[in-house]
Parts: sequence; C-alpha cells; structure tokens
Amino acid sequence: MSHDVRALRPDELRAAHTLFSATIHRGPLPDDTWSRSSATYSPGRTLGVHEDGRLVATATSFPSELAVPGGVVLPMAAVTRVGVRPDRTRRGLLSAMMRAQLDDVAARGEAVATLRASEAVIYGRFGYGIATRGRSVRVDASRPAPLRPDAPIEGTVRLVERQDATGVLRKVHESVALRRVGGMTRPETWWWSSLERRIVAGDHVLAAVHTGRDGDDGFAVAFPLDVPDGGLQVTDLHAADVTATAGLWRFLLDVDLVAEVRADLRPVDEPLELLLAVPRACSVTALADETWLRLVDVPAALAAREYGAAEPVLLAVHDPMLERNAGVYRVAHGIAEPVGPLGGPVRPELECTAAALAMAYLGDRAPSELVATGWWQANDPAAVPRADAAFATAGLPWCGTFF
Ligand SMILES: CC(C)(COP(=O)(O)OP(=O)(O)OC[C@H]1O[C@@H](n2cnc3c(N)ncnc32)[C@H](O)[C@@H]1OP(=O)(O)O)[C@@H](O)C(=O)NCCC(=O)NCCS
Repeated sequence: MSHDVRALRPDELRAAHTLFSATIHRGPLPDDTWSRSSATYSPGRTLGVHEDGRLVATATSFPSELAVPGGVVLPMAAVTRVGVRPDRTRRGLLSAMMRAQLDDVAARGEAVATLRASEAVIYGRFGYGIATRGRSVRVDASRPAPLRPDAPIEGTVRLVERQDATGVLRKVHESVALRRVGGMTRPETWWWSSLERRIVAGDHVLAAVHTGRDGDDGFAVAFPLDVPDGGLQVTDLHAADVTATAGLWRFLLDVDLVAEVRADLRPVDEPLELLLAVPRACSVTALADETWLRLVDVPAALAAREYGAAEPVLLAVHDPMLERNAGVYRVAHGIAEPVGPLGGPVRPELECTAAALAMAYLGDRAPSELVATGWWQANDPAAVPRADAAFATAGLPWCGTFF
C-alpha cells in the first residue's frame, strides 16, 4: 500500500506535535508552552501522512552540523519527533516517511542525518548505524575530596544565575562541542526545549562554567535527584579537555548535601575512574547507543573525513535504499574516492552496508571488529589491518546532545 507523505503546513504542526507526544505516551502541550515549542520546528521539514483527512504519522528534522574525523564539519539533518499512531503501526508508514525524508535531506545538500532511537530495532533497515555510544554513571559523592590529589587542577568553576544560564552555556557549548568527533551544533531552540523550559517552570537548576587558561572551556547542568541523602542528575556536561572535565566533576561531587551524582550518555572514554580518589566510587550502570548515523551522501562523507596513514583499501558499499551511494571506494593516503560500480572490474577487498560503514565512520568501531562480528565482509583478510589503520581515530567519538 502506498502512503502519501507530504510536508506539513505551519498550521498543522501542533497536530503533529500532539500526535508525536501521544506515541511516546505524553499529553498535548498547553497553549503557552506550544507558542514557544512551535519555534523548535524548522520550516518545511516536518512530514506527515494523512488517512481520511486525519494525521496518522509524522517525522521532522532540523538543520545542524556534525564534526567528523580531521576537524571537518558536515551539514547534518537531526531527525526527531518520529511517531506513528498506535492503530496504524506496522503498515509501512515509517518506511514511507524515512524514504521521503532521506530524499529531502539529500536535496538540501546535507551529507549526513543522525537521530536518537527509542528502540534499537527500528532504524538499521533505513541505513542508520550506531556511530557513538555513551555510558550511564553513578558516582558516590559522600566522601570528602573525591578526586585524587594529583588529578588536574587548574582554573575555576563559577555558578551561573538561572536567568543567564541559556545564554552563557550556549556560548561555551559552541566553542567546545565541535572539537570532539561526533559533536554537533545546537539550534537556539534546542536550549528552550532542553533547559529553558524547566527553568521557566521553576525547577531548581545548578549551572556551572569552568574557566581555564584560555577562558570558558566547559560547563555542567544538573538538577536535584530524589535519592536518600540527596543527589544530582547531570543533564549536560561538555568540557574542552581533561582539566575542565576534572574541574567540573570535582565541583559537582563537592556540592553539599549530595551523596550521589548520576549522569547518562557520558563519553565511554571519560576518565572518571582515573580522576577519582577511589575508582570504585564510580559505577557504570549502562552502556547505550547515542548517535544513529545515516551517511546520506556516501562519496561526500567519505571524502570529508581524515584517514590514518595506510596502504590503499578497496571497500564496496551496498545501499539498496539510496542506490547512488553504492559502489567501490578506494581509501588511500588520506583520500577516499569512488573507483567503480558494484560488480564492475574493480574487485573490492572489503564490503559493507551504509549502516555498517556508519559504525566505523566516526571511529566508534574498528573495521576488524566489524569483520569479526559479520557486519563487514572481508574478501581479502590482508585488507583488514589496512582498513583499521585508515579508519582509526585518536579518541572515541561522542556527541552529548540529546534531541
Ligand atoms: C517506531 C514506529 C515509528 C514504527 O512505525 P511503523 O509505521 O510501524 O514502521 P513500519 O511499518 O514502516 O516498519 C518498517 C519495518 O520495521 C519494523 N519495525 C518498526 N518499528 C518496530 C518496532 N518498534 N519494533 C520492532 N519492529 C519494528 C516493522 O515490523 C517493519 O518490518 P518489515 O519491513 O520486516 O515488515 C512506531 O512504532 C512508533 O510510533 N512507535 C512509538 C514512538 C517511537 O518510538 N518513535 C520513534 C522515536 S525515535
């Protein structure tokens, strides 16, 4: 059955928001909140499917940018608010929207799309792969001087007044987020949905900025957590380096009447255990997928990132949904370029799908891990260490923005 997907008009966005909210078991927004939240929809980027004149499915995206290995920043579609009415699921509505959305993203010249998935089984079929991950931590804050005496200590931490928080933190985020592979830019409206709305509603918030040698280089946002003896839930923490990371965690763990600090989707390689006086004060309670990445324009995305020094690798990419991406690519001496069609005279040494390529693209997974687990196929095993060397990155990618 074919479904008519079309871009929604501005006067249809509230219905789309209400529909999406219902699919994640939330109620509609009151008028005053909607008047602010409506601005979080980027014009012309919300899709809908109607049946008998009623909206039954929706998906949207907003423009952003993604930092890829080597420091290049690619235009990115941030896909969000995807929902299908519960009595219309499993009939292909999401599939129809995903196809239309990828065409729209490509037409806008955005080389990549990313999203956060409510369930891990949904997006792989549309060419999305897990490209960054994060861990949930719980840190015991009941001890005095929680960090090692020789953990980096330089700079200062200051609290930011609640009415100034958005403006101040936004600037710090802009200066640090894209320094890390996987980082993304946030539209101004992100701050409304994710922070300002809670401040306006009267929630108590702790917003702190770290200032290092070169100025503000990190920030943390935390809300009270209802645990025995008091706690903090960190909702946002970005730091330019380990010194700023140490400064912010030291501050959070030293706040009075706080026995535990929790944070989700932290970088997998955040060196908390190395900074803490007692490494076991940090428990890792979960490891979860963060960025689901779709390489919408594979030639452009492959050409944009940096590669490690390695002898040439011939990699075939399969992409039945976006056929123009399919082909054999040669990665050599820091450059990736298409060298022929699939099944042509250039025989690939390695093969993968667009989704499996996304898993290695930012450096989260090494090609050898992906070959060993069947995500990539090695026609020539000698190419695997070459691919590892080419795709290797200095650290693990991480985004730190939930949307
Ligand atoms: C997730 C959701 C958008 C899927 O929409 P849908 O219209 O049912 O998806 P489709 O019918 O196009 O499904 C395409 C395929 O994915 C599978 N699939 C989709 N969602 C799935 C899910 N949640 N669990 C298991 N399989 C799923 C379908 O079975 C189908 O498989 P098939 O091609 O082998 O038949 C919908 O279930 C929903 O709105 N869920 C609640 C809100 C939500 O989680 N939104 C996503 C936010 S990131």
